[in-house]
Amino acid sequence: MSIYVNLFSTVLQMLTLFLFFHSLVNGRGMNYYMYNSIIKYLYKIFIEGNHPEIMEKITKDKSTNVIWHRATVTKERRERLNGHRSVILWFTGLSGAGKSTLAHAVEERLYQMGCRTFVFDGDNVRHGLNSNLGFSREDRKENIRRIGEMCKLFIEAGVIALAAFISPYREDRASVRRLVNDGDFIEIYCRCSIEICERRDVKGSYARARRGEIPEFTGVSAPYEVPENPELIMDTGDTPLENCVDRIIEYLRERKIIAEDRDRNLF
Ligand SMILES: Nc1ncnc2c1ncn2[C@@H]1O[C@H](COP(=O)(O)OP(=O)(O)O)[C@@H](O)[C@H]1O
Ligand SMILES: [Mg+2]
Repeated sequence: MSIYVNLFSTVLQMLTLFLFFHSLVNGRGMNYYMYNSIIKYLYKIFIEGNHPEIMEKITKDKSTNVIWHRATVTKERRERLNGHRSVILWFTGLSGAGKSTLAHAVEERLYQMGCRTFVFDGDNVRHGLNSNLGFSREDRKENIRRIGEMCKLFIEAGVIALAAFISPYREDRASVRRLVNDGDFIEIYCRCSIEICERRDVKGSYARARRGEIPEFTGVSAPYEVPENPELIMDTGDTPLENCVDRIIEYLRERKIIAEDRDRNLF
């Protein structure tokens, strides 16, 4: 497959150069950048639509000549040591839907059961690793990509990674799913109406967004794409927190990520 993509890419680049020099000779108005835009558009149509994973490789991979070193202590061995599997629990939903609250409550329960866990929370990550990113479409994409890579490292380390991010775009969530093995990405949609989120207004952000003080605010001036096939839907607008936690733990047991008989009060 990739040989055809490389061929296609080379042909397009040669075409760009040809058109560019052709326009120089003819003295026509179109410049290299205009041709480049056309080429990018062709990429979008022919590759991005059908093979987003290849598009991502073409546009993002800048690290060449880097060879992965295989560890002898693998994810599977770490999982055996821990006595539970390691997965990503990805909480998505509007601001105020309850992602952070639920992720920390699930973590607390898992900790009491002796599981190794870590919560990644939107605001905290934006203070550090992603402090150079804003809320434009591109920055949001990069924000989620970095978090996805980080979660992947944590699950390689045998940890249950809980990620609480609005992550409003389906495409971005899907790209994190693609990073890990089938079944290792568990999407949990925290379903809560914008009215309830706005009434809660935990951080006062909705009021500020309505006053126009926060641009590109999800649900107000930026979109939220509802998950199409999440592993779990939690109605965090009207279900008590403990019931949501119970359901997630039950799901982890059903999927044998944690053992059925794991003691609830180890720690
Ligand atoms: N079932 C529930 N799950 C999570 N949060 C809930 C639930 N029911 C009510 N809440 C409340 O909703 C608010 C959610 O805030 P927060 O977790 O910060 O949202 P988010 O991280 O999605 O922006 C908290 O005040 C929390 O107590
Ligand atoms: Mg939060």
